[in-house]
Amino acid sequence: MTLTDYDTALVTGASAGIGAAVVADLCGRGLTVHAVARREDRLAELAAATGCSTHVLDVRDTEAIDDLFGSLDIDVLINNAGVGRAIQSLVGADPDDIDQTIDTNVTAALHAVRAVLPSMIERGVGHVVNIGSVAGLYPMSSGVYGASKGAIHFLSTNLRLELAGTGIRVTEICPGRVRTEFYDAAIDDPDLRDAMKETGITEITSEDVAAAIAYALDAPWYVNVARIELQPTEQTYGGMQVTPIQGRDQDQ
Ligand SMILES: NC(=O)c1ccc[n+]([C@@H]2O[C@H](COP(=O)([O-])OP(=O)(O)OC[C@H]3O[C@@H](n4cnc5c(N)ncnc54)[C@H](OP(=O)(O)O)[C@@H]3O)[C@@H](O)[C@H]2O)c1
Repeated sequence: MTLTDYDTALVTGASAGIGAAVVADLCGRGLTVHAVARREDRLAELAAATGCSTHVLDVRDTEAIDDLFGSLDIDVLINNAGVGRAIQSLVGADPDDIDQTIDTNVTAALHAVRAVLPSMIERGVGHVVNIGSVAGLYPMSSGVYGASKGAIHFLSTNLRLELAGTGIRVTEICPGRVRTEFYDAAIDDPDLRDAMKETGITEITSEDVAAAIAYALDAPWYVNVARIELQPTEQTYGGMQVTPIQGRDQDQ
């Protein structure tokens, strides 16, 4: 299997950022692309620019996922819709933000895969691309978001095992900082949002992520690109944090 062997793709979270860039890239490569998101106006603009088909849908609506995803013979699923509500901390997080992040990033992603797999297995063709994050692989002091992307990591690795012998490929994409609207949707407080957004580094672009996905899709059938991590050159992870407990007697 290579990109030229895939006919149809479905991209969730297609109205902005990484999803929109992937739709444009796959349409440009001649695939029939189904673009899924909640914002109708954004999807209409994308359709006008790329020729994709659009579906206004909240991925937290499991019935809608079953109806749409289950009715299309999808070769490539790009499981991309995601939010970073409560990204700054679990401590003090709004319970609704926790639910929104888990429901969108994890539960909906599971249902999307479940809905497309029967057709993929029956036809013997399929590629599931899950958009994870470096936050799902390394501690980044983000309990809610990290937990959601950690789930995507183990969804991806376990799917590889579950699908052994079917020929269906699974790829996990783990970006670091990508310049998108992600933080605008994640954080309401303008000062905190600006502090999170303005890193002073050159972030990677949605098009860089789309190119990484195309690399995985374009590999020959016997190559499963299992995981790609891509980060800005100016971003890294790790190091041991040293933080004294507040109020502790240092002589103890
Ligand atoms: N930006 C980064 O630094 C970064 C880094 C690592 C991983 N990621 C991951 O990359 C993916 C894409 O994020 P992005 O950076 O491109 O952010 P973005 O620009 O905010 O795009 C998020 C997309 O998800 C869609 N979405 C959110 N909730 C949805 C829902 N309930 N139903 C349907 N669609 C929904 C949004 O569309 P509507 O609002 O129109 O529904 C939008 O199209 C996410 O999974 C994110 O966690 C991002």
